Amino acid sequence: MYISFNMNLTQLIYVSKATQLMGMLSLTQILDSSVRWNETHDLTGVLFYENGHFCQLLEGDKYEILNVWERIQSDRRHHILRRLELAPIEERSYPNWKLRFHGAEQIAMYFKEMAKVLDGMPDHDDDLLKFMKTVSETNP
Ligand SMILES: Cc1cc2nc3c(=O)[nH]c(=O)nc-3n(C[C@H](O)[C@H](O)[C@H](O)COP(=O)(O)O)c2cc1C
Repeated sequence: MYISFNMNLTQLIYVSKATQLMGMLSLTQILDSSVRWNETHDLTGVLFYENGHFCQLLEGDKYEILNVWERIQSDRRHHILRRLELAPIEERSYPNWKLRFHGAEQIAMYFKEMAKVLDGMPDHDDDLLKFMKTVSETNP
């Protein structure tokens, strides 16, 4: 039988707090090493940074997701990581993205509700999860 999809396709969503306020340079460094790793391990996703908080959605093979999750968790540039979702998915929401960075301006422009969600973290995890799902449905 011909199987055209990866049976182990998994999605991970988490939020975290930056240990220090991140400047453009620090964010670019994270992005650079992430893109390189993600490309070679067939991981796709999106990374948000706003006001000292990260939010990331990653999708790929389950083994690769668990592996990168270990790496991400031990990164001292952020802490108080909260995993919001680790679940099998049928297809990627971001098949063509390696990693995309949304800064405050873009977020404020496109997703007005994002600011209030992040301000209240972690009380608003559910809102954030809903938001991330909206993003993944409306921005393939
Ligand atoms: C918010 C945040 C998101 C990250 N996302 C990724 C990612 O998607 N892929 C990845 O390989 N590394 C990611 N990293 C970086 C890893 O934690 C790790 O530091 C990086 O892969 C460099 O590892 P190395 O120094 O062993 O090369 C992220 C780090 C932070 C702080």
